[in-house]
Amino acid sequence: MTTWLKSAVFYEIYPNSFCDANGDGYGDLVGITSKLDYVRSLGANAIWLNPIYDSPFMDGGYDVRDYFKVSPRFGTEKDFDMFLAAAHAKGMKVILDLVPGHTSEQNPDFLKSAEPVENELSDRFIWTKGEWSFPEGFKAIGGRHNRQGNYIVNFFSTQPALNYGFNRIDDPSWQMPHDCDAAKKTREWLKSVIRFWLDRGVDGFRVDMADSLVKNDGDRCEKPKTSEIWRDVRAMLDSEYPDAVLVSEWCDPQAIRAGFHADFMLDHHGNPYNLLVRAEEEEGKFSYFDKKGRGDAAAIADAFTSWHNAIGGKGYIGIISCNHDTPRLAPTYSQEVLKLIYATLFTLPGVPFLYYGDEIGMKYVKDMPSVECGFARTGTRTPMQWDTSVNAGFSTAAKTFLPTETDKVVNVAAQEKDKKSLLNFIRALFDFRKSNDDFISNHLEFVHAKGAEPLCYRRGKLLCVVNPLDAKQTAPITLDAKAKPIFSVGKEAKVLKDKIDVPSLSFNVFKTK
Ligand code: GLC
Repeated sequence: MTTWLKSAVFYEIYPNSFCDANGDGYGDLVGITSKLDYVRSLGANAIWLNPIYDSPFMDGGYDVRDYFKVSPRFGTEKDFDMFLAAAHAKGMKVILDLVPGHTSEQNPDFLKSAEPVENELSDRFIWTKGEWSFPEGFKAIGGRHNRQGNYIVNFFSTQPALNYGFNRIDDPSWQMPHDCDAAKKTREWLKSVIRFWLDRGVDGFRVDMADSLVKNDGDRCEKPKTSEIWRDVRAMLDSEYPDAVLVSEWCDPQAIRAGFHADFMLDHHGNPYNLLVRAEEEEGKFSYFDKKGRGDAAAIADAFTSWHNAIGGKGYIGIISCNHDTPRLAPTYSQEVLKLIYATLFTLPGVPFLYYGDEIGMKYVKDMPSVECGFARTGTRTPMQWDTSVNAGFSTAAKTFLPTETDKVVNVAAQEKDKKSLLNFIRALFDFRKSNDDFISNHLEFVHAKGAEPLCYRRGKLLCVVNPLDAKQTAPITLDAKAKPIFSVGKEAKVLKDKIDVPSLSFNVFKTK
């Protein structure tokens, strides 16, 4: 059974940017394999690999040309199998990115579907009727193929939407029902992709735009017919691959009801993750870690509790430090504050997902020219900073996929040597988390949450106390006078008669009865 997910700690690797073993300027599977001990040393026991499939890379690989083939950019089929075997031998699970909603415009099934003469794949994608049809509410691309119709895209113009049908049909001339034969065949195709990689040994998938399958399918969260598809996929996993996990990019507890084992809490305006670390002045809100104390712990506690309760222990929240679509938290936050942030994020209930480089505080590079349609996301995908040698030790190439940042402090070699580094802190944090089962329990209770006052929450017998401000505060909580923190970031908090004295910029955990 998928019980391994409960204690999983994931490390997300963007393959282009992690380690280039063959010196061509792009990261590759042999490079990743060579760094597995490093990944394991962080306390991670699972890896999420962003797409590694054959692709023209018009959206960083989320435009898949061949779902059954490893991109030669990342290595050979054998390189993949060796990577997987090595990860497993070191006790690490591996999940791949699954892109179910769209393919590349160069995918052979799409090209077949785009032919002017009707064939068995004509309805595998969504096409309007007639070359002049550009229906409102959809992105339809015309004039690129001889078929008399325009294809609907799921994301960029290079990513034609696969046809899982429509829930509400507004125009029957081109919109097909979600339970028509063509839509059922798309589902079967999706299952064949899933089976192919599970048979090859992977441990599951992070599912891209999981809520995007059936069109006109209720509101953003509910998606009843899309949910039906995933429940069907889950039933298949439960019977054929009971250890495999599905983690969705959906960002709503509905994903768990739809059959996902876990779902990411992404940076969406006003959700608990956003309010905790990413809310910005422009959005009219401030993150809890805002230096001036303008955050709102009460809103975070309410929102997190209702999300947690909505899941009701039936699945997990994927808690991210960042991901390949989101600006990194540095340089907005210093390394000192990042420690508090990671400690908070990864002691809340959920499965931690650490984005490569966040363990050393790699910085978001603002205004980096877009590569492979990364656009603003490009600055969060720069090569891993291993040391201060050429290309920060990422590659020996004269030119790398993205320019490399060199920094005396923000690199693995420097931080390995420094006991107090962010890197060594992450190791200590995951180690502490691992040795306390309460952190993987489903228990959560916010006991004090008000403005920028210390945020206090219980996980079973553990009480976590966070102070985001550079000023001493107190928390109105009564503990046994002798209680001492069992884990601290910054200075140790002290128990007073009917309150806790909480030092500036600190995170403390007490064990209570
Ligand atoms: C997801 C991916 C993102 C990609 C998009 C389209 O949001 O995380 O990187 O561009 O889907 O596949």
